[in-house]
Amino acid sequence: MSQQQIAISSRAPLVYITGASSGIGQALARHYYDLGWSLALVARRTQVLKQWAQDSQLDAQRYAVYQADVTDIDSACAAGEACLDHQGLPALVIANAGISWGVDTSQREDLSAMQQVLASNTMGVAASFQPFIAPMVARGSGSLVGVASIAGIRGLPGHGAYCASKAAVIAYCESLRTELKASGVAVVTLLPGYVDTPLTRSNPYPMPFLLSPQEFARRAYRVIDRKAGYAIIPWQMALIGRVMNLLPAFIWDRVVAGRTRKPRHLSEH
Ligand SMILES: NC(=O)c1ccc[n+]([C@@H]2O[C@H](COP(=O)([O-])OP(=O)(O)OC[C@H]3O[C@@H](n4cnc5c(N)ncnc54)[C@H](OP(=O)(O)O)[C@@H]3O)[C@@H](O)[C@H]2O)c1
Repeated sequence: MSQQQIAISSRAPLVYITGASSGIGQALARHYYDLGWSLALVARRTQVLKQWAQDSQLDAQRYAVYQADVTDIDSACAAGEACLDHQGLPALVIANAGISWGVDTSQREDLSAMQQVLASNTMGVAASFQPFIAPMVARGSGSLVGVASIAGIRGLPGHGAYCASKAAVIAYCESLRTELKASGVAVVTLLPGYVDTPLTRSNPYPMPFLLSPQEFARRAYRVIDRKAGYAIIPWQMALIGRVMNLLPAFIWDRVVAGRTRKPRHLSEH
């Protein structure tokens, strides 16, 4: 790191956020920036990131933009390494990028949609963390946040790809948390309920306790700050999540049997 970069990083803690070009990631970026943090903003659409930073009048000394497609391990790792080179080691990494595509796996072509969901939502989290794990362990501090979903707790109709991808994030983050426990590096599994973003806007079913991205970001900040291992936001969904966890499979099957399916991504596009 250059002297100037050291001076910048010593002034403000750094947060690295994937999926910062929209929804939850963008709201988290705004929230952390307003609290004095520096930002490493990651997405495929860097033009959107740059435009947002400009429109939000961010101080150019306090943010940088990195392009990554998190479905591509090399691309995701390269963005992390570029951040280490240019801005230094973050205090916090939020692996938030994700997609929510409905699938019908009786249809051959939906298998590639499922593969894409798993690559974005599951492998994307591991590949986004990877460049930072060893340096954080060496430093003895840092937080890695994996954005899962309440949909990762149980299966939902039409949502097999998404639910499986988020269940995998929950298990992966739990494994990583146990591995890093003694190192001083925290791993936070964040499970949003429903948040009003482009990802949920076309859902054809009710979305109870829907939060704005800004409100979600405020609550997520508090959870991350206290290094909670596992948190569902909002609290009403946390109660529902606890019940979902406890229900035996035969009861869960009855609860969701008549629920509207998540529409197939391929039939919509
Ligand atoms: N909204 C909800 O109710 C809700 C509930 C539970 C969990 N979540 C989770 O929260 C996270 C954020 O969702 P959101 O609601 O904010 O969705 P969103 O508004 O659609 O934003 C998704 C973000 O992910 C990025 N992204 C998607 N695929 C990517 C890829 N292959 N490589 C790099 N970046 C990629 C997008 O950026 P580019 O297109 O520019 O790459 C975008 O910035 C997701 O993991 C989602 O599953 C959301």
